[in-house]
Amino acid sequence: MKLVDNKATLTFSNGSPSVELPVYGGSIGPDVIDIRKLYAQTGMFTYDPGFLSTASCQSAITYIDGDKGELLYRGYPIEQLATHCDYLDVCFLLLNGELPDEKQRTDFHKLVTNHTMVNEQMQFFLRGFRRDAHPMAVLTGLVGGLSAFYHDSTDINNPQHREIAAIRLIAKMPTLVAMAYKYGVGQPYMYPRNELSYAGNFLRMMFGVPCEDYKVNPVLERALDRIFILHADHEQNASTSTVRLCGSSGTNPFAAIAAGVACLWGPAHGGANEACLNMLEDIQRNGGVAKVGEFMEKVKDKNSGVKLMGFGHRVYKNYDPRAKLMQETCNEVLEELGLGNDPLFKLAKQLEKIALEDDYFVQRKLYPNVDFYSGIVQRAIGIPVNLFTGIFALARTVGWIAQLNEMISDPEYKIGRPRQLFTGSPRRDVPGVKK
Ligand code: CMC
Repeated sequence: MKLVDNKATLTFSNGSPSVELPVYGGSIGPDVIDIRKLYAQTGMFTYDPGFLSTASCQSAITYIDGDKGELLYRGYPIEQLATHCDYLDVCFLLLNGELPDEKQRTDFHKLVTNHTMVNEQMQFFLRGFRRDAHPMAVLTGLVGGLSAFYHDSTDINNPQHREIAAIRLIAKMPTLVAMAYKYGVGQPYMYPRNELSYAGNFLRMMFGVPCEDYKVNPVLERALDRIFILHADHEQNASTSTVRLCGSSGTNPFAAIAAGVACLWGPAHGGANEACLNMLEDIQRNGGVAKVGEFMEKVKDKNSGVKLMGFGHRVYKNYDPRAKLMQETCNEVLEELGLGNDPLFKLAKQLEKIALEDDYFVQRKLYPNVDFYSGIVQRAIGIPVNLFTGIFALARTVGWIAQLNEMISDPEYKIGRPRQLFTGSPRRDVPGVKK
């Protein structure tokens, strides 16, 4: 963070003295006005619900240019990473700042692979859940529960503990997600296989059964790996900010990541892919492509409460670059599985076409986001709809950890503690209390 040759001056119409505020510049993106001393200087707070104009930290991990539709992990464009690297390369990059060389790559893959099993006791913990529990409810519990099993990596202020916790979380998330799925369908858990890739191992733990061999389909393996890459990090979104805020109290990394899982569950965030597929299935049940026009009228009617799920983004005011890559993967997977005529895919294309031409969407700069296509891909692979957000959580875990570790290593970090504009009753006395 460097001071730029600029200062902001805040003046007040009531004659209070004006204050001068420093301005800092990043390597790219908007400058920031430093208001840390504002309260001390003026007795006032700033008001910014939803953090529309507030940079809550400095970060060197992920950069989004929402107007251009650009996403960079550590400076590398998502398109290049998605086509030239695998998910574990991206994990290494997000955690360490650079892509691995050949030796680092081999060592990192081995390290993660050697931590994929979970404590056997986790199975008994899982049994406490109802079989029909939502996988995100199960995952929130399981991830938080890891802190009860791995006592040697719970000190967030110890860099070695943070490093071990990071590897454990990345390695064990696929095992936990697959266990949550198997538990729900009443099948035996599949132990991880170390000779498989990260995505291949996950596919086998999900869809393999102990009574026969499971052959990983390379097209689906690559598609899943891409889903993981595209969801690995996304700046200071709601769940990442939650992880930072939670971790800022000094809580252990597993607890902080469990907070991220809980936040991600919401339909305006990670739950959007599930909501998007439910929406497509609803339209399909009610008449399919022929009913798209009617549905769009509802979306545009503010009183209907209906949104076009998978469209719009707080930051992207252009096509989400992840959506383009996901669309490509979607075509590959549907072709591989002979689902080229999939009615939901056709429906999605029709919705997209109308939305991209319609004034309502054009004026508001609403474009498809990554979730618009990722649900179709996951459904084609055989992943049940209620597990979509769990897959997102699996992939985002590395981003959460990288951001958490960055925060803890930042000398300027403080416990997060926003202020408020109080609008409730001023002090008053309980009836009967004598003054
Ligand atoms: N369908 C219909 N109208 C929409 C939509 C939509 N999907 N998204 C935004 N709008 C309208 C909104 O009603 C508002 O209209 P007006 O200006 O007339 O009041 C305008 O567009 C601006 O919307 P906003 O709610 O102020 O935008 P936001 O930045 O607060 O919300 C969002 C972003 C993602 C919550 C929202 O676009 C949304 O709910 N989209 C659907 C859910 C979704 O797909 N979420 C996944 C986000 S991507 C995954 C991730 O990164 O987590």
